[in-house]
Amino acid sequence: MNLPPAFPAPGILAQLPSATLRALTPADFAAWMQLRNEVLAGLAHPDLYVREADEAAFFAQNSLPRGECIGVFLGEELVAYAMLGMPAAGEDGHLGAVVGMPTGRQAGVAHLASCMVRAPWRGNKLQALLLRLRCAVAQAYDRPLCLAVVSLHNAASRHNLLAHGMWIEWTGVIDGLRRHVLQIDLLGRQRWDLQDSRLIAGDDFAQLCAAAASGYGGVAEVVDGGRRMLRFARRLPDAMPPGHCAPPL
Ligand SMILES: CC(C)(COP(=O)(O)OP(=O)(O)OC[C@H]1O[C@@H](n2cnc3c(N)ncnc32)[C@H](O)[C@@H]1OP(=O)(O)O)[C@@H](O)C(=O)NCCC(=O)NCCS
Repeated sequence: MNLPPAFPAPGILAQLPSATLRALTPADFAAWMQLRNEVLAGLAHPDLYVREADEAAFFAQNSLPRGECIGVFLGEELVAYAMLGMPAAGEDGHLGAVVGMPTGRQAGVAHLASCMVRAPWRGNKLQALLLRLRCAVAQAYDRPLCLAVVSLHNAASRHNLLAHGMWIEWTGVIDGLRRHVLQIDLLGRQRWDLQDSRLIAGDDFAQLCAAAASGYGGVAEVVDGGRRMLRFARRLPDAMPPGHCAPPL
């Protein structure tokens, strides 16, 4: 893999002006583990984020040189990180396979693998910033299809991913856990029939699975009184990339 693109210089985060960003290396593994232990110990619900079976292998898979893990530092303290994985087509655990993507498209996928913010630093939109940065890196590596796994309980993360323009591509069970897979196409080829849409409660697992399986994507969150609902719209065929013609009828 080539050298990573440069990250913003110190001072660019208006909400945390003294923060610095850099790609984590194997030397940061202990600090990364410490942050994870702290965040996982403080989760409001155990299903929000379930620890990987092999944390060292997960770090290696989603940081340099195989992927990219962006760390946000305040002084020496790692306050947040976010990871990007670049799986090979057909590789075990490839999320493209989970959502039924043909193998031929899987080389264009990046995994938005994991993001955590230490509790005192939440509310600064760091997840949103780290989403933008990871998408820029994914595009630089010619991987415009970004996929992320989220627990149905993780309403904050789902909210931030939807606000970034991702949609719920699939809902089902991964390793025994009820999960959404959200997707974004950084080339903007996806199209939706917004006239054909329906609202589904964010915890209605059966309806969420059925909607995705029948060609609907979850494109927005709608606040209905005190309830947050998800709007699913019918997926239309992708737009052709520039320079390509539609096949003859
Ligand atoms: C999820 C996480 C990364 C978000 O951290 P963050 O960048 O500080 O996020 P913020 O607090 O700035 O995000 C706030 C947004 O979420 C929304 N939000 C918060 N709780 C919410 C809820 N229960 N339902 C819907 N939206 C919610 C807020 O309204 C706000 O939206 P806005 O930006 O449109 O105003 C952080 O909470 C975390 O580390 N959690 C534990 C680990 C985890 O779950 N990681 C993600 C795994 S997919």
